[in-house]
Amino acid sequence: MATTVGIFDSGLGGLTAAAEFEKLFDNKKYIYFGDTARVPYGTKSADTICRYATQDTRFLLDKGASLIIVACGTVSANAIDHLKRNFDVPIIGVVEPAAKKAVELALCGKGRVTVLGTSATVKSGAYERAIKKLDASIEVRSVACPMFVPLVENGYTSGEAAELFVKEYLQPTVDFEADAVILGCTHYPHLSGVIGSVLQGSTLVNSGKEAVIAASYLLGNDSVSVGGPEFYVSDAPESFERLASIFMQKDAVGQVNCIDIESY
Ligand code: DGL
Repeated sequence: MATTVGIFDSGLGGLTAAAEFEKLFDNKKYIYFGDTARVPYGTKSADTICRYATQDTRFLLDKGASLIIVACGTVSANAIDHLKRNFDVPIIGVVEPAAKKAVELALCGKGRVTVLGTSATVKSGAYERAIKKLDASIEVRSVACPMFVPLVENGYTSGEAAELFVKEYLQPTVDFEADAVILGCTHYPHLSGVIGSVLQGSTLVNSGKEAVIAASYLLGNDSVSVGGPEFYVSDAPESFERLASIFMQKDAVGQVNCIDIESY
């Protein structure tokens, strides 16, 4: 039977993974859930993140998904083991694939990786563990950037406000001269123009993209359900629809349905 892919995030960040999915799996179906009623996840406790992630996964399975891409760094860093223990479908997070890509880049350079993530992601130490497991000699700096998600969720991906916060968080790491900078929260690639201009000389690693590439190794293209995307959110579908079409560079992303995630 064909596999149907479910992708979820706290909001708009997972669209960075969805865009890659569309590139690799033209005309294939995926079901996207953005938990816009409860974003941001990155300021919540690990217990709350596990509870939200469980509901998000249940919803996607209920809609027919049979493989889950956790397109959220915060959930991948804090709840992936919990999800894998509780659900009997393949579950792919962003941490290991992004760490692998960053280590490859670092091994061709000075051996340095910077990780950018939400407060909950940095606190978990998950990226650092994944990097050190691949190569213990890699030097890692982690920086929590809690204002990046609200900026992106409100459409401030360039201009003075974005530049101000990006410089505030990243200026102190410029001297580290990382070979690779993991955009460890899937919202952050939406800010990559501004981030790249501050951290010049480092290669930015898009964690959502790396997770989809990892999923593509598991999936043969022929075995993926056909039919294009279905979008669901837990609040404010109009605002999601407007920003999603901008981020995905489309005239429209199609209908965005609103669901009650607390009932899952
Ligand atoms: N895209 C989520 C992540 O990758 C954002 C987390 C949040 O909602 O704070 O971490």
